[in-house]
Amino acid sequence: MTRRTLVAAPAVLLAQAPSDEMRVAIIGVGNRGTALLAAALKAKGARIVAVADLDEARRNAAAARITEAGQPAPKLYTDFRQMLDAHKDVDAVIIATPVDTHKAIAVATLEVGKHVYLEKPVALDPAECAAVAAAAKSAKGILQLGFQLRHDPARAASMAHLHSGALGKVIYLHAHRHTGDLPHHIEWYFDKKRSGDIIVEQACHIIDLMVWAAGGPPETAYGSGGINLLRDEPRGRSILDNYSVLYEWADGKRLNFSQMYFDPPGFSGIKERVYAERGAVDLATGMVHYLDKRPAQKLDFAPGDSTELSIEAFLGNARGKKRPLNDIVSARQSTLVAMLGRKSIYEKRVVRWSEL
Ligand SMILES: NC(=O)c1ccc[n+]([C@@H]2O[C@H](COP(=O)([O-])OP(=O)(O)OC[C@H]3O[C@@H](n4cnc5c(N)ncnc54)[C@H](O)[C@@H]3O)[C@@H](O)[C@H]2O)c1
Repeated sequence: MTRRTLVAAPAVLLAQAPSDEMRVAIIGVGNRGTALLAAALKAKGARIVAVADLDEARRNAAAARITEAGQPAPKLYTDFRQMLDAHKDVDAVIIATPVDTHKAIAVATLEVGKHVYLEKPVALDPAECAAVAAAAKSAKGILQLGFQLRHDPARAASMAHLHSGALGKVIYLHAHRHTGDLPHHIEWYFDKKRSGDIIVEQACHIIDLMVWAAGGPPETAYGSGGINLLRDEPRGRSILDNYSVLYEWADGKRLNFSQMYFDPPGFSGIKERVYAERGAVDLATGMVHYLDKRPAQKLDFAPGDSTELSIEAFLGNARGKKRPLNDIVSARQSTLVAMLGRKSIYEKRVVRWSEL
């Protein structure tokens, strides 16, 4: 073939793809699944062969993205089990469905031997998290969780700096996620029985980073929260619109964390500050501020998109059967720390880690 015919024939190129090509399927192509699909299409050596979603328009939109990226049209399914049955040749599966479906879909996919990228949080409650962890333990494939911020360059550089001991011991953590409300068209977000409530469904990202910085889970949580503004908005809302939680570790360090959905535009959105004996780091920006007179310093890191980096890492981990940075052990721990806070808010009492 001439160079010209090669350029004009992507299907031929794919047929000749190197042996490290990964055949990928995706379950759930809504808001997050679409972003993960875009990242997988950008990654080297990933071919998206099948898509499952309950919603026909979303399946078709995903298929259009895949063909626009120069890949052959994927097979489309409503039922993810049918897809798994029909595609024994798939190496890896990305799952981005609502939280109340995570356990069943992840366990079934791990059981048929696929490498799995499962969106965060792990699941809805501690028992479901244990079931996913047990399935991962006996699985042939790897399981990576969608805590992609662990791959964010600023956060990764901040964490390496903290863990190097350059600032001394971590003694205090202060984080918040103060924003406007969640998008109202995604109905399941607002039902705590489907999402696990906002501390588990959304704040688990920052909690994961805080637990990573702290070096393990806290001993206790005490929280308080409610719906102070967005009552029945959207209709039937059962999730909180604000809360605060104080987490305490055995060595006395504390995380002061809050989240709310009525932050007016112009107020700051997200803070992820970790304080050590000689200074503090803002994980999101990679800025280090010292307690002595030294000027603040920006850590050295190359920019990069955390979702793309996380998906690339997943494909690499799957190829080499390597343990992911955001594996089930750390992800389960972080999801449980979010559940510790949730239990404390709901039960209005101090809850101990050992209770979970
Ligand atoms: N990592 C992140 O930054 C991030 C951001 C947003 C959402 N999420 C997570 O991603 C997941 C999906 O959230 P979303 O915002 O994309 O929600 P969404 O409602 O936009 O998309 C979910 C999709 O899953 C489909 N679906 C539901 N049940 C299914 C089933 N049984 N089989 C196949 N498809 C099914 C729905 O039709 C929908 O298209 C959740 O776990 C959420 O917490 C992660």
